[in-house]
Amino acid sequence: MSDDAISRNENRSTTPHNSAFHGYISGQWGNVQQPVAVERTQAPFCAERRRALSADFAGQTLVIPAGPMLVRSYDTHHPYRAHSAFTYYTGWGADTVPDSVLVLTPNGRDHDATMFYRFPAGRGTEEFYADADIGEFWVGPRPTPEDVAVELGIATKSLAELSGVLAKADSSWAMVREADSAVTDIVDIARGHCETRDDDLAVFQSEQRLVKDAFEISEIRLAVAATATGFDDVLATMPEVTAHSRGERLIEGTFNRRARAEGNNVGYETIAAAGTHACFLHWVRNDGPVRDGDLVLMDAGVEVESLYTADITRTFPANGRFTETQRLVYEAVLEAADAAFAIVKPGIVFREVHAAAMGIIARHVSEWGFLPVALDESLSESGQHHRRYMVHGTSHHLGLDVHDCPQARKEFYKDGIVREGMVFTIEPGLYFQVDDLTVPEHFRGIGVRIEDNILVTSTGAENLSIGIPRTADDVESWVRRLA
Ligand code: GLY
Ligand code: MN
Ligand code: MN
Repeated sequence: MSDDAISRNENRSTTPHNSAFHGYISGQWGNVQQPVAVERTQAPFCAERRRALSADFAGQTLVIPAGPMLVRSYDTHHPYRAHSAFTYYTGWGADTVPDSVLVLTPNGRDHDATMFYRFPAGRGTEEFYADADIGEFWVGPRPTPEDVAVELGIATKSLAELSGVLAKADSSWAMVREADSAVTDIVDIARGHCETRDDDLAVFQSEQRLVKDAFEISEIRLAVAATATGFDDVLATMPEVTAHSRGERLIEGTFNRRARAEGNNVGYETIAAAGTHACFLHWVRNDGPVRDGDLVLMDAGVEVESLYTADITRTFPANGRFTETQRLVYEAVLEAADAAFAIVKPGIVFREVHAAAMGIIARHVSEWGFLPVALDESLSESGQHHRRYMVHGTSHHLGLDVHDCPQARKEFYKDGIVREGMVFTIEPGLYFQVDDLTVPEHFRGIGVRIEDNILVTSTGAENLSIGIPRTADDVESWVRRLA
């Protein structure tokens, strides 16, 4: 810990700094028996991913940081979350030691992988007891280099050696730039102004992640299962939710409790939107009441320890019964979701999924008389009037990130061919804002989204979240059964 960092914390620190204290606290510690380290299930999968990366970046040194802890305010931090590219290639998930960096060094044939991370400091160091951010007396023990090497199948070196290594960077180096600005700055200075393949690396890892391997699929299944339990937890508290002035917060708290209990955290801020709030696509303020007669739009996902997340939305009547108009809207959205799902199979183009959903959404709002133009014109590229009621897309890839593979090129994502092993959402919705003068009054303030997580199989698709009630009747009985 730097002197600066120590003085920053002086106001609250009472840790003595004299040598008698240091001598005394440094000694007379026994050995705690740690469980024997074993290779993690994901280690061989990550090795395979690194092999593909290595082949594409022959002769290049690759730097993939996990990233630092991010400051929330002054000396408090956000919950730590490693960069997804780092986790993808190392298998180190929720328990990643902050500031770690994976370096892949060309060895003539392929690459050697080295994990630079902050080794345990040892009890003879001041860091151990005086550094509130990283000291093991404060935040708990760090794993030994031997254990990290066994668990991840990657050689380890002390983080203290990293800056010497990075200082040798030249034009044959490529890095994940956005993960850790301190590492990026060192590499940039060492490389000078030269052409690099940083952008290629960003694109490569995003596109590699488009098709999930067996480990990823099983982790996403776990995330979906934990998310399903979280939805059940919420429904079981509906009497309490409707009695509280900030019922939306209770929903968020109940779901997030499950996410922490069964996973690492939520994969994104939980959306708990009741009544007219459901018309705001990403309502995360969650400070409103949940009233009898409201629809509740809940969009939430558990991120498991390996950092894969689910992303699921259900919209349900708080009192267990849809009104006629709520049901009409709900069933239109469900029809759109089912139509999109029906076309999914290897070989289609990804954006066709969206088009299938939009065909149904447009037809319904046209039949209800909300469009100022004919259906065909609205569906044409120069029209799109129906999108007033659903401005978001129908599908995005899902994995380590809720909006996964964000740097993939358009021709592999939106215009890409759907392939076996891809996982994405189908999430049509209809949102009639409370002040929308284009719709009759009884539609205003109704927002519905139904979001499922879809795995592409060899012949079609599997809806991973099919077990969470989705038809209007099933949703009604679900609410009534659990509440
Ligand atoms: N929860 C964000 C989304 O559905 O994309
Ligand atoms: Mn969502
Ligand atoms: Mn989504």
